[in-house]
Amino acid sequence: MNRPLLIGPFTQLLPMTGLPLKGALKDEQLPIIENGGILVSEGKVLKVGVFDELKSNDVDIHHIEENHVCLPGFVDSHTHICFGGTRARDYAYRNAGKTYLEIAKAGGGIWDTVTQTRRASQEALVQGIISRSKKHLKNGVTTIEVKSGYGLSVVEELKMLRAIQQANATSTASLIPTCLAAHMKPKDWNQDKDYLDVIINELFPIIKAENLAHRVDAFVEESAFSPEEIKPYFQKAKEMGFDITVHADQFTTGGSQVAVDFDAVSADHLEASTEKEIQLLAKSNTIATALPGASIGLGCAYTPARKILDAGGALSIASDHNPGSAPMGDLLTQASILGTFEKLSNTEVLAGITSRAAAALRLFDRGKLETGAQADFAIFPTDNYQEITYHQGQLKPSEVWKKGINVYK
Ligand code: NIG
Ligand code: FE
Repeated sequence: MNRPLLIGPFTQLLPMTGLPLKGALKDEQLPIIENGGILVSEGKVLKVGVFDELKSNDVDIHHIEENHVCLPGFVDSHTHICFGGTRARDYAYRNAGKTYLEIAKAGGGIWDTVTQTRRASQEALVQGIISRSKKHLKNGVTTIEVKSGYGLSVVEELKMLRAIQQANATSTASLIPTCLAAHMKPKDWNQDKDYLDVIINELFPIIKAENLAHRVDAFVEESAFSPEEIKPYFQKAKEMGFDITVHADQFTTGGSQVAVDFDAVSADHLEASTEKEIQLLAKSNTIATALPGASIGLGCAYTPARKILDAGGALSIASDHNPGSAPMGDLLTQASILGTFEKLSNTEVLAGITSRAAAALRLFDRGKLETGAQADFAIFPTDNYQEITYHQGQLKPSEVWKKGINVYK
């Protein structure tokens, strides 16, 4: 065994431990270790504590200059970073006041990205994922969920999921794949069989056999699948042991009820959720995920994050990075901005992109810095953690560590 490595001292070390999964959080609840250190061995955290108390002759030291704050590596629990092409035209149309329908008629929308993704080779998709995940890593994101959903046929969804698997083998950030074969009804589907039946009977077994994903997602929305239509898909996914996650209540309600009915790990978007859906989610085990990048990209309302937390819900915050609604792909910037609009405490914002985001992926070995966790962390050049959200993503990490290795400096 190699000698343990002690990293520090940090002016402030925020382990993000000891916070409840659900409900509002005050900054007084945020644990801060002053002059902290992290002892790391074999990619895992051995101990977190005061630097001087962790020092001994048996450890090597990676010394941090003064005035640095250390946090767990961020977890982006909802992205679509596997895609081909661009949707810059949609963005220009939207800002010129064109409606969703007009944009779709002009060849835009999700279907446009399906066409461009189908045209891309698996290798080109792999390269796209790797370059986007590198950008996220530099911003402190060490775990990234990645959805399929721009293939919309068995063959093309498999191409995407295999690309994600292949990218994960070389990318530094961990990639967590999700099957989103029910992103919309494929416009070119002209077989006798029902599209979702084919996905259930042909795609799901291959995903299992090749271990391509353990999560299944659907877009429950008037323009995609109704709550009724999506039931057999989630029913089968659940029977096969997949975790369920739902694109819910983005423009119209209905999706969060489906999420709760299927005991989904998360219900994401929720911009249109009303008091009824907020209460429903707050009483459930389903984590609400706000996607401020989609609100910024579409010029729409934000997820009612304050109300969800005050009702007792769990809130994760993710980037939704995708070519259509959320092209920015900057989690910290978006989470900080959500905080200003929704009046979230720093602790709520930071938990939303660390411990609570990890829980939304059912990953309990990260998003926190504690004994046994993966040694994933981001180090910011400041002596005060409040500066991190204050700079709205412009204060960048000076170092990022993944599994005990300094992967960015
Ligand atoms: O999460 N809402 C559905 N899906 C994506 C958008 C995908 C796209 O526009 O390409 C989302 O915002
Ligand atoms: Fe999405």
